[in-house]
Amino acid sequence: MKIQDEIAVLKVQRNAIILAHNYQRPEIQDVADFIGDSLDLSMQARETDAAVIVFCGVDFMAETAKILSPEKTVLMPVRDATCPMAHQLTAVMITEAREAHPEAQVVLYINSTAEAKARADAICTSANAVNVVRSLPAEEILFGPDCNLASYVQALIPEKKIIPVPPGGHCYVHEAFDQQDLEDARKRGGLIICHPECRPEIRAGADVIASTGGMVRSATDARVWNVFTEREMSYRLKTLYPDKTFHAKEEAVCTDMKKTRLKDLCLSLRNMQYEVTIDPKTMAGARTALEKMIRIGR
Ligand code: 13P
Ligand code: SF4
Repeated sequence: MKIQDEIAVLKVQRNAIILAHNYQRPEIQDVADFIGDSLDLSMQARETDAAVIVFCGVDFMAETAKILSPEKTVLMPVRDATCPMAHQLTAVMITEAREAHPEAQVVLYINSTAEAKARADAICTSANAVNVVRSLPAEEILFGPDCNLASYVQALIPEKKIIPVPPGGHCYVHEAFDQQDLEDARKRGGLIICHPECRPEIRAGADVIASTGGMVRSATDARVWNVFTEREMSYRLKTLYPDKTFHAKEEAVCTDMKKTRLKDLCLSLRNMQYEVTIDPKTMAGARTALEKMIRIGR
């Protein structure tokens, strides 16, 4: 039996749904039930009737699914698929920042550990960061771990003071986009769409700034796009819009997003591995902050 067929059979037997992030390998996207950005995936995890969620992405995404759907079994096909940026912010850093800024409220990017989330007032994704920050009464906002997303929010909400925690947290994949990429894209033609995790000077040179879900929605606006985010986003866009052209940066690869392969997904369903577990206290704290984000939506 083909591995894709075995996955389909096991999925029915387990009453499972396969959720995959837009950066997953093409062959994983092809067997997924739902593909999306961090916000779409969180909402899907919360709403599904399936008993088992197999999460093809990185650990903070699977943890979020477990926190929002604690009664479900959440599996990660690869145990050590993680987001290096999430680990740039520790729970201790948040406690120290709160002590230094007692009037401030804490908004954390969903790309953070469950322990950090449990210490936040609200969570956001790149799709709703501006709306989440606006919804809070505090004038000072401690925002982490991505300093580029923090500066993006600051530019759109000048009336508040956004303090990045830590000061230089970033994603290595998006940080690598540079002036040469902008110049190359302009020479090639088409519009430039970039993720808010890119540096401010790259965002300033782009035509559209959007989460990966926002990129899917914006793609209808032009025929040729230069996509400044992880490489596999272009596979997703090309699948949805086969008549359009999407230029990716070949080297823009998130190593952890690429760890999940079809054989890992098949083994995950066959052996029910690896189950995501979070201690109840962390789970309760993180859920309060995540539910605030869900109420605000996109
Ligand atoms: P999105 O929520 O826009 O998909 O971003 C997730 C991510 O990890 C970006 O690097
Ligand atoms: Fe983390 Fe960057 Fe990978 Fe997204 S692309 S999961 S932010 S390392």
